Amino acid sequence: MDVSYLDNNSTTPVMPEVMEAMIPCFSESFGNPSSIHGFGRRALAHLKRAREQVAALLGCLPTEIVFTSGGTEGDNLALKGVMNPGDHIIVSAIEHSAILSTCKWLEHIGCEVTKVGVNSNGQVEPDSVRRALRKNTRLISVMMANNETGVLQPVEEIGRIASEADVWFHTDAVQAAGKIPISVQSIGCDLLTISAHKIHGPQGVGALFVRRGTPLLSQLHGGHQERGRRPGTENVPGIVGLGQASKIAREGLSDGSVERMGVLRNRLEDAILKLVPETRINGKEASRVPNTSNILFEHVGGDALVLALDALGVAASRGAACTAGEADPSSVLMAMGLTGEQSRSSLRFSIGKQNTVEDIDRAISVLPDAVRRLREASPFYRPTATTAKGRE
Ligand SMILES: Cc1ncc(COP(=O)(O)O)c(C=O)c1O
Repeated sequence: MDVSYLDNNSTTPVMPEVMEAMIPCFSESFGNPSSIHGFGRRALAHLKRAREQVAALLGCLPTEIVFTSGGTEGDNLALKGVMNPGDHIIVSAIEHSAILSTCKWLEHIGCEVTKVGVNSNGQVEPDSVRRALRKNTRLISVMMANNETGVLQPVEEIGRIASEADVWFHTDAVQAAGKIPISVQSIGCDLLTISAHKIHGPQGVGALFVRRGTPLLSQLHGGHQERGRRPGTENVPGIVGLGQASKIAREGLSDGSVERMGVLRNRLEDAILKLVPETRINGKEASRVPNTSNILFEHVGGDALVLALDALGVAASRGAACTAGEADPSSVLMAMGLTGEQSRSSLRFSIGKQNTVEDIDRAISVLPDAVRRLREASPFYRPTATTAKGRE
């Protein structure tokens, strides 16, 4: 059975060009980049090119890139590397668990944390960040694009607030990279996280942008790799994959592939709203990345719908992959004002560069019936006039 993989915010398939770029690192360029002989120098040349490719995606200097094991490590390093006991940090309530769990740890070591809420569109209000500033605020961390709804956050305004207040600013751009242009200069951030596997690169590798002059305490102790900011022999094949994926991501912003994802996303949303009664797009009023759609299917168990779709050849999810399977409602959707039940009835469809119209049309063809069956099977469900009409 052909399957429509519409869960690209969880992870994306590695592009063939990325794999191709990685292969030499497993054979002739297998050396340790810290070695001074030819094998090492060849590996180092690969690292150098990848660093330049990532820097070009973010609009920064190659020396401002620190390679990491992915988004989770980048977020941890940014927060733990800057915060000291007694400091205050401002984050949004809709951050990824890589930020929110790190904040719990920061509280444990004596830091203060303020979580600012979002409006019903899922956007942080810059004023709420301004109001949360304190004398001891050291860092603000607000993501660029939310992983569940795709809603873009006003990071440039928040960057200005941080700069006026002389506070460091980190943004998690894991879900923004490759979908919208990123310029660390326009955002005015000091730290920015990306992850390779969200941009058609390999899993387990990412990068943290660290603006020159930003104090960052390494969280690992060992060698001098990454200018001492992240010791350990570099994951050369992974980093080369990240570099190539960054190059493709950058090109995709102007070669029409990002627009194509938007067209597919809109095709899916328009059809579902028309064909399935009692549905709503979460965050539709806000600017969003073009590949993400979070849809509320009233009176349907989200996990049951994910499983039903899986059996019908469509892979979607109820939210972040790292919280999938948890019975808890999505804290992101609850922060936007959805009830627990509505949050559990919402599904995320996220499109990648490999997706085709056929993938979308398969989802459109199976969703109405899958939703109808689940609603009919529910003892609590009473069809409204519109729902009943939709069944004809
Ligand atoms: C917004 C965001 N931040 C961080 C991460 C964690 O990235 P990684 O899976 O590379 O650790 C994710 C992954 O879903 C994410 O969506």
